[in-house]
Amino acid sequence: MAAPLTDQEKRKQISIRGIVGVENVAELKKGFNRHLHFTLVKDRNVATPRDYYFALAHTVRDHLVGRWIRTQQFYYETDPKRVYYLSLEFYMGRTLQNTMINLGLQNACDEAIYQLGLDMEDLEEMEEDAGLGNGGLGRLAACFLDSMATLGLAAYGYGIRYEYGIFNQKIKNGWQVEEADDWLRHGNPWEKARPEYMLPVHFYGRVEESKEGTQWVDTQVVLAMPYDTPIPGYMNNTVNTMRLWSARAPNDFNLMDFNVGDYIQAVLDRNLAENISRVLYPNDNFFEGKELRLKQEYFVVAATLQDIIRRFKNSKKGSTGPVSFDSFPEKVAIQLNDTHPAMAIPELMRVFVDIEKLDWDTAWAITKRTFAYTNHTVLPEALERWPVGLLETLLPRHLQIIYRINQGHLDEISALFPEDMDRIRRMSLIEEDGGKRVNMAHLCIVGSHAVNGVAEIHSNIIKTDVTGEVPEQDQCSALNIGKMVPFWMQPQEWRKDKWIKILCLPLQAAPGYHMAKMIIKLITAVGEVVNKDPVVGRKLKVIYLENYRVSLAEKVIPATDLSEQISTAGTEASGTGNMKFMLNGALTIGTMDGANVEMAEEAGEENMFIFGMRVEDVAAMDVEGYDAITYYEKIPELKQAIDQINSGFFSPKQPELFKDVTNMLFNHDRFKVFADFEDYIKSQEKVSQLYQNPREWTKMVIKNIAASGKFSSDRTITDYATEVWGVEPTDLKIPPPNEPREALDETARALREK
Ligand code: IMP
Repeated sequence: MAAPLTDQEKRKQISIRGIVGVENVAELKKGFNRHLHFTLVKDRNVATPRDYYFALAHTVRDHLVGRWIRTQQFYYETDPKRVYYLSLEFYMGRTLQNTMINLGLQNACDEAIYQLGLDMEDLEEMEEDAGLGNGGLGRLAACFLDSMATLGLAAYGYGIRYEYGIFNQKIKNGWQVEEADDWLRHGNPWEKARPEYMLPVHFYGRVEESKEGTQWVDTQVVLAMPYDTPIPGYMNNTVNTMRLWSARAPNDFNLMDFNVGDYIQAVLDRNLAENISRVLYPNDNFFEGKELRLKQEYFVVAATLQDIIRRFKNSKKGSTGPVSFDSFPEKVAIQLNDTHPAMAIPELMRVFVDIEKLDWDTAWAITKRTFAYTNHTVLPEALERWPVGLLETLLPRHLQIIYRINQGHLDEISALFPEDMDRIRRMSLIEEDGGKRVNMAHLCIVGSHAVNGVAEIHSNIIKTDVTGEVPEQDQCSALNIGKMVPFWMQPQEWRKDKWIKILCLPLQAAPGYHMAKMIIKLITAVGEVVNKDPVVGRKLKVIYLENYRVSLAEKVIPATDLSEQISTAGTEASGTGNMKFMLNGALTIGTMDGANVEMAEEAGEENMFIFGMRVEDVAAMDVEGYDAITYYEKIPELKQAIDQINSGFFSPKQPELFKDVTNMLFNHDRFKVFADFEDYIKSQEKVSQLYQNPREWTKMVIKNIAASGKFSSDRTITDYATEVWGVEPTDLKIPPPNEPREALDETARALREK
């Protein structure tokens, strides 16, 4: 039996989940009933589980509002350096439970819902995931918002309010089928529309030179309407803002004076403008190069920079004379989440030079000190390279600015390496082979004062692979920043003893990606055979996890014993699942790739199942050549598996079904998976042996959890804050709304003195 808790321990437990308190519970019940009546216009005879979810969500939200307003006022009063996280994705998942936890309301809400005769878990299941992301990059942005609020940073997330997030994946007959993610259908209780703060964004047009300088004219305007979502910190009364833009057609859209034409058609055409924020591109690690995507990227950037500059100027209201931008980098840090918001660099230059009339060199120095860039991948098919022709049409002034940035950049390289034409070609922002394109990673590196990857090994790789060697090599070297999430820990479950071995495989294929879809079909086909086998089926089940998403990960990750992180070394930038599994009590079988490397550093290689080639081995193999067939002939298990697939063992009605997959594996497998196969099998045997010994397994799990602290996103954000953004995390609490205003001034004074 567990020892009884001391009073101090009890208090601590209560403080994490929140105090129940009779008044708290009564207050919450009152709020719940009020919202059911006034907001949802329902009584308990007709209310659905969804109504109950909404009633609770609105009740919890009420507790955010005062803190949210106070936090924003506090930022105006203390005028700290603000941090802007620009991202085309924020993969937030569900909000209700996180909000209850961060406000310390979880226990009281549980009790209130219980007293109302309802089930909290049923209500939570009614919430749609906010699936505005593909995977790691988007979830990272969401975790970072959480940690920035928890660490008391004056931070903002800026992105797009996609009407449709990542598609819902259905598996039909073993094949992936996509369905539209109409996540806003029932309304979103966490967002507040702000039509009064709508801003114009320009597209197309032409560049005109006049006495007043350069001007971008005859443009088409789309309006960006902000929707604000509160981001509460953990138990510190800070509530930051995530501002997502939605595209709106101006009311005179296509209804010019000279247009005698068709009013109905003009109204219908408003959709064309509003399509900009319609749907998230479901491409993870892949550059598709569509014009609508470039519009999305510029749309978020143009609206956000207007907002940032407005806020910068507002904070200077007291000062006299024209606004000086000299202090801009001391008051504003902008982090670019991959190259997706890279147009922010030429856009800020355009605003400074064309509108604010700064000279080029001053504007460029300020711009560089403002931006920092995080690279998320080295896979060439993922790197954004926009055709010059497309930019010339859509954003002609920005193309000019990019050319001028490139000129300065190439002048610097020529000065350092005279006549090294090959280097100039490699490092140019403009690629010439196969049609002129702008290399957006190069633009980000040149326009930023700090560049980092998402794991140490990845930061090292990008120094050569992505930069094409930028002269200031040291701008990369100092920043080896890992990443991660602290949330889903259930440490009481050291080991999840199962009677049967369950192999769970979550995977999502971009809708146009043939090979990924074939692999999903192959997994489900293998499952059909394995699960029905009278002998094997009793020991092993292959389960394809349909529609993997944040809310499903929250359930699956804590239930997992073995996490497989098996990318070929040098190809996975970081991974995110790897660290979450570690923190939640799974052991890892993996290659020395991405964050696995740092996990092994923290936990000790002996506490992981590390196998396969290292980055150097892969590089050597690239020189020597990789011949898949030799592995096939040498390794009996591999030969058997491939022969079974090829002979139609898993697809008896269509024996040829998986030919494309095996063909790829033999003839053009960039990931060289056969080369790691034998070592993987050996390593799996070690896993099986250890699993026979629950005591030793559990010991290793505990060592892993104990070593996982580095992978908290709070740690990561602390590093970004001090090394990149030049801001200080604080544990000062903003006084809650029920304390008098003077308390707020007192905290502001304390912060200034600090
Ligand atoms: P924003 O940061 O300018 O977008 O404003 C966000 C919120 O900050 C506003 O809704 C106000 O609650 C608060 N705020 C705006 N301006 C001021 C000010 O001058 N003093 C104090 N609070 C302000």
